[in-house]
Order: sequence, then structure tokens, then C-alpha cells
Amino acid sequence: MTTTLTIRGAWSAARQNCAPGCFSYHASWRLFRLAGLKGNPRWHGAFYRRALDDRQPSTALVCGSSDETMPQILTELQPDIQITVADTCPTPLTLINAWAKKTGARVSTLRSEAPQLDGVSGAFDLIVTDGLLSLLPTSADREAVIARLAGLLSEDGLLLYTTRIAGPAGHLEYDRIGRAGQALTAATWPVASAERVQLARQQLRRLSRPSPFTSPDQIADAFRSSFGQVHLFTRSAPPTIALALHPAFLTGRGSLCVGIAATQPRHP
Ligand SMILES: C[S@@+](CC[C@H](N)C(=O)[O-])C[C@H]1O[C@@H](n2cnc3c(N)ncnc32)[C@H](O)[C@@H]1O
Repeated sequence: MTTTLTIRGAWSAARQNCAPGCFSYHASWRLFRLAGLKGNPRWHGAFYRRALDDRQPSTALVCGSSDETMPQILTELQPDIQITVADTCPTPLTLINAWAKKTGARVSTLRSEAPQLDGVSGAFDLIVTDGLLSLLPTSADREAVIARLAGLLSEDGLLLYTTRIAGPAGHLEYDRIGRAGQALTAATWPVASAERVQLARQQLRRLSRPSPFTSPDQIADAFRSSFGQVHLFTRSAPPTIALALHPAFLTGRGSLCVGIAATQPRHP
């Protein structure tokens, strides 16, 4: 079946490919991204442009990518770049392959989980990952991912990590709407209704994922053990109209976009 790069196409790809643990997330991701409610690589576009201003990487690794947005940004900045995308779930890889086929972008995809990243071999000129560290349960896991990525980078390569830090409320804007949307999406999981209800309940009960970091400096510090040079960029302006209209931003307590540019990898 042809995969279309639409909200319905992404939902349909998720119904065919996702495990229960990520179905609600991947099936609803495109809707939330397009609505401007959930953080995605476009929110960090200015950071990527600035970081790549004086570089022309010919190979890149994207580690975790919910859909084609990240490879799309990289090819906008560097049209001939050869991109490898590693993700644990086949749904984003299906979307990325459909996008690459349509655009002629030079992309290869593989199912692989960080930190092991089995099947991924460097050295890459550029490695990018958005929000991945927030998905890892322990600081040891986060350290292992950073060290593994450093090991996959060429000597003069660049690693870009982007994420957001919640404001004083402790959770990101529209978090509740996001969870409610994912619970509704769970009701479309292609299994018996009892299982669907159980999945929807899990989504509603699931607590907001607390960011492992509470300050930009903490994020930069996490990269210092594996990189000789770590530069930190922050942006407090709301990245979308939806965020600008959120009470947190209206009262000057909105989330912060953070970008890390790391070079001089320490290879094991
Ligand atoms: C890293 S975030 C990326 C989100 C971001 N908005 C984007 O599209 O760039 C979510 C993606 O990472 C994948 N993922 C989660 N844990 C992973 C891991 N340990 N290794 C590789 N991919 C992972 C998920 O399947 C999902 O597609």
C-alpha cells in the first residue's frame, strides 16, 4: 500500500507498523506537529542553520525521528547530504522512505535502538537528534547514548542535540491536550475493543514525562564527558502561534528551546 505523507497516511502507517507502546504517539504525531502543539525539529530551524553555516557535511546520522521532518531540514540545508536514520519503530522509517522516494533525497533507514545502535557504523560528519535524551530512563542510559554517538562521529564532525525545557509549571505546554489526544488515538488501535480501552486508559493515566534536565547548563554538562567542545544555544521566544497564545508564554513562564553543538568527540 502507498504511504501518503498526510495525517491520515501517518495514522495508517502507525496502525500497520507500531507496537502498542508507541502507537498512540506515532499515529497522532503528525496532527500535533502540524497544529504547532508538540516540539519538533522545525522549532529549532534557526539553530540548525546557524550551526551548519560554515560546514558542508556530506554524511549525517539522525538518531530517532518521528517522521520525515528532520531529514527534510537537513536536505534543505545541505541538498546532497547522505542521511542515515535509525529509529526503534518502523512507522517513522516508512514515512521517511516514502518521503525520500518522492523527493529523491539520499536517505537510508534502519531499525535500531540507542544506545546500542546495532547496525549503525560511522564515521558521520554530522549527527542530529531531537529530544532523545528525555526518552531514556536513567542518567547511565543518557551517558551511554552520548558516548555511542560521539564514537560514531568523525574527528572533525559535529553533533547537534535539540530539546525543550519546561517552564516553572514543570511540564511542557499543551501536555494534557497531548495526552488526551493520544488516548483518543488509542481507541483506533486495530485490536479487540477491550485492549483498545486498556491502551486508552494507560495513555490518560500516564504521567507527563519529566525532563531529565532542569537547566540548559545541565544539558551541556551531559555532553562534556564525551566532547572536547560544547556550545549551548537557547531561545525563549514561542516557536508557534499556539505556544504564543498559551498562558505560560503570556505570563512569561514558557518553555525554552535548547540547542547543543558538540565537537571534538572523545572516541573510546
Ligand atoms: C527522539 S524523538 C524525536 C522527536 C522529534 N520531534 C523528531 O521527530 O525529531 C522520538 C522518536 O525516537 C524514537 N526512539 C525512542 N527511543 C529511541 C531509542 N532508544 N533509539 C532510537 N530511537 C528511539 C521513537 O520511535 C520516535 O520515533
